[in-house]
Amino acid sequence: MGYSVTKIIAITGKGGTGKTAVAALLIRYLCKNDKFLLAVDADADTNLPETLGCEVKQTIGDAKEFLQEVATNPRPDQPDTNKVSLLQSKIYEIIEEMPCYDLLVMGRPEGSGCYCYVNNLLRGIMDKLVQNYDVVVMDTEAGLEHFSRKIVRDIDSLIVVTDASRRGFRTAERIRELVDELEANVKNVYVIANKVTDVNRDQIEKLAGDLGLDLIGMVPLDPKVEELDIGGIPLSELPDDSIAVREVENIAKKLGL
Ligand SMILES: Nc1ncnc2c1ncn2[C@@H]1O[C@H](COP(=O)(O)OP(=O)(O)OP(=O)(O)O)[C@@H](O)[C@H]1O
Ligand SMILES: [Mg+2]
Repeated sequence: MGYSVTKIIAITGKGGTGKTAVAALLIRYLCKNDKFLLAVDADADTNLPETLGCEVKQTIGDAKEFLQEVATNPRPDQPDTNKVSLLQSKIYEIIEEMPCYDLLVMGRPEGSGCYCYVNNLLRGIMDKLVQNYDVVVMDTEAGLEHFSRKIVRDIDSLIVVTDASRRGFRTAERIRELVDELEANVKNVYVIANKVTDVNRDQIEKLAGDLGLDLIGMVPLDPKVEELDIGGIPLSELPDDSIAVREVENIAKKLGL
């Protein structure tokens, strides 16, 4: 392995707009295209594994105490490079290997202690780890705080998922501003409108245009998605002709995936 160009896709947006569903559908698409794929659940309220139908045994959050100890124990005999490789092997242990993707779950963030040092080491490890893959799809939590504790440094496409609400679009605007302010290494910011119906389709397009947002796709409100969700069935089980599946396929192609 070892790919020079890894595409990192991060998915963000207001709560409940469908970030996790879109992430799962992108992963579903990529699975059919033989990519080395890493899925990252960066939401403290872990949902992606269930939506993918994958059982996860351990998260980075679970291992933070261990990682902290390794990272900060004063061991003059142990140079920093050694700590890094110890941390690295622990991360590899946490990664769940599925037939067509690997899954890394961040889990809940630290409690009261300060994990700055271990977080910095982790970022370095993540930067290297992602290079093993063609594509990384990262599901994040609602809210904007997590932008300051960046998990990976360079994002190819930041996708803001919004529903047909004004508030969803306002969040998209704020995220775009934040990216500029942080001078984050984000190449592209796109918006996906989700749960689109014939009633709101035209208005969504107009609103996105007025706000100058780069609307890369409109995923329809799909009764099959709702049906699987209430039944606790992973979205990988959606039929190929599901309207949501089809639109996410189009989006993936536009993203060059
Ligand atoms: N295109 C769609 N059609 C129908 N239902 C959908 C669609 N997309 C998402 N949903 C439903 O909307 C709800 C919220 O979706 P999801 O959990 O993906 O949102 P989220 O943005 O990840 O939420 P959170 O902010 O809590 O992480 C779920 O019940 C999901 O099944
Ligand atoms: Mg979610």
